[in-house]
This record gives sequence, structure tokens and C-alpha cells, in this order.
Amino acid sequence: MKHFLSTKDFTRTEIEGLLERAFAFKRGEDTSKPLDKNSIALVFFNPSLRTRASMQVGIYELGGNVVVLEPGGTSWTLEHRDGVVMDGDKTEHVAEFVRVLGRYCKAIGVRTFAAMKDWEAERLDPVLNAFAKHADVPLINLESAMHHPCQALADMMTIRERFGEKSKRVVLTWAWHPKPLPMAVSNSFALAAAQAGHTLVIAHPKGYELDDELMNDARMFAAHAGGSVEVMHDVDAAFDGAHIIYAKSWGSKNFYGAPEKDIAERAAYREKWIIDAAKMRRTDDAVFMHCLPVRRNVIVTDEVIDAANSIVIDEAENRLHAQKAVMAMLLGEN
Ligand code: CP
Repeated sequence: MKHFLSTKDFTRTEIEGLLERAFAFKRGEDTSKPLDKNSIALVFFNPSLRTRASMQVGIYELGGNVVVLEPGGTSWTLEHRDGVVMDGDKTEHVAEFVRVLGRYCKAIGVRTFAAMKDWEAERLDPVLNAFAKHADVPLINLESAMHHPCQALADMMTIRERFGEKSKRVVLTWAWHPKPLPMAVSNSFALAAAQAGHTLVIAHPKGYELDDELMNDARMFAAHAGGSVEVMHDVDAAFDGAHIIYAKSWGSKNFYGAPEKDIAERAAYREKWIIDAAKMRRTDDAVFMHCLPVRRNVIVTDEVIDAANSIVIDEAENRLHAQKAVMAMLLGEN
């Protein structure tokens, strides 16, 4: 049984296969219904627009039924740790929750953001791994503490749609945000762009490094795919010659558990790191991408996000097609 937890668990050939299937869904060439009246559960510990709507629509279009659960809201609060005496505020353990859902549903999607309290614990994706430990049906990661592979697959589809198969200069740039955010989108984008063989530049202020192990994986994938990974701290220089600007804010791993320190640290970066027209003029007519939701005139100016080269809506649409390809793959259809 295969899960979809990170693109790093899939070969470049397998990812190519997913992208081909996603394009076939998008072009309307593939109208198969591999879910065949079976159900998929979507478990949301955190809010969502794109992920929830695109998964619900995708399941419907594949001929399936969706069960949406929100632990602590529309279902019981959940404990994920092993060996815990559950005399606190958690009512049900993941061990029962996941196995019960597996009796009703052919797959389970789960969204569980980083709490951003304990870097060393959260970098290991404890909630997602507790689901995986107990699941006897395929799991789909709908954004965990460390990964958002559905977003990354849609991002690679969007780049492919615009530029074809050639390697491009792809800049993943940090941007200022009033509060520290998880790294999952940035991590998964970096991995997937490296797996695709792009020339990847990761621009961020000093102190906002991504996880060391993830960076090693990205460099390894890039070397294997004929691409490269470079880290830059000069945001203006990073934009020079870029074909794709991918903006995302994230919190410093140095300040997990102390958001006020991160907020103080980043205060100096607000003006410098916004994506504006002056920076975009340094690029090679780059497209602008962001996973959304995005704060206008904080992460990116109106002028940039409303320009013809902004492809954020295509990117959001492609979540639907990419996730249909993932579900079709996991449930055994070709
Ligand atoms: N990009 C993304 O995952 O959007 P949502 O948080 O709205 O699902």
C-alpha cells in the first residue's frame, strides 16, 4: 500500500506519470471514475479553501463520495502520542480514529499544520506519522508540519504548463508576514523543483534557513536530475534572470515556541522582502506564483499579483487536476 506524504517518496518517472495524468484530467481527455462510488475521508485539523474544495470536487469528479471531519469541531479531539494517559482534553486516539475510518473509506487525506512550538519534535511530522502508523488504507498529505506535496505537484504542473519540460531558473523567495508561518509549502516546493531538475535559488534572510536534512535531500535530487540548489541572502540579486518567482513566508526554526522573538527579528525585513514591480523588473519576464492565501501589499504588491504574469489562479486550479491524478494512482487505476 502506498501513501502520498511527500514527493521525495516518488521517482522522477512516477512524478512525470502523475503530471501526465493531471494534464489528461485538465484537458478532459481522461473522464474515468476510478473511485467508483467509494468514499474518501478528509481530516482537517486546520482551515482550508483550496485543498478542501479541490479535494471535494476531485472526489466527486472521480465518481466517489467524500467524508469531511474536523477533529475538535465536527469530530472528537484527537491524541496522537503513544503511551499517553488520556486524562486531558483529548477524547479519541488516532489509533482507533484511523482504523475506524479505514473500514468506511478507501483513502484518508489529512491536514495537520505545525504548531510551531518545538522544532525538533515537529520537524519529524509526528501527527502525520501517527496516521501513517495506524492506517491500513492510503494516506494523502494535505499539508503537514513539514510537507505539502499536493501543492508542490500542482506547482510543478503549473510551471510545466507555462514553460514545458525545460529546466528553468526558479526562485523560492521568503517574504515578510506579520507572524511566523510553517515551512511545509517551501519545503515541498524546494524538493519538487529539485526533483524536476530546475536551477533552484532559495532566497531568505539569514536565520531563516530551511531544515538541514531537507536541504541535503534537495541538493541530492538536484544533482541527480541535472539541476542545482543555491541559497542567497540578497533578495534583489536573487531575482536577476529568474523565470519563476515563487513567494512564501515562513518562520525561523530558531524561534519555534517564541513567536514574539521571530516577529521582532523579521521587523527589519518588511520593506526589503516584499515582491514588487521593481524586483520583478530584474527577472527574465518571470511569472509570479504563490500557493495562496496571500496577503496583498504585504507579501506581494497589487501591481505584481494583478499583472498578466501572475499565474496564481492557474496554480490554484491545478490543485484539482494534480490531486485527481494522486487519488487515481493510489487507488490503483492507470
Ligand atoms: N494552498 C493551500 O493549501 O490553500 P488552502 O490552505 O486554502 O487549502
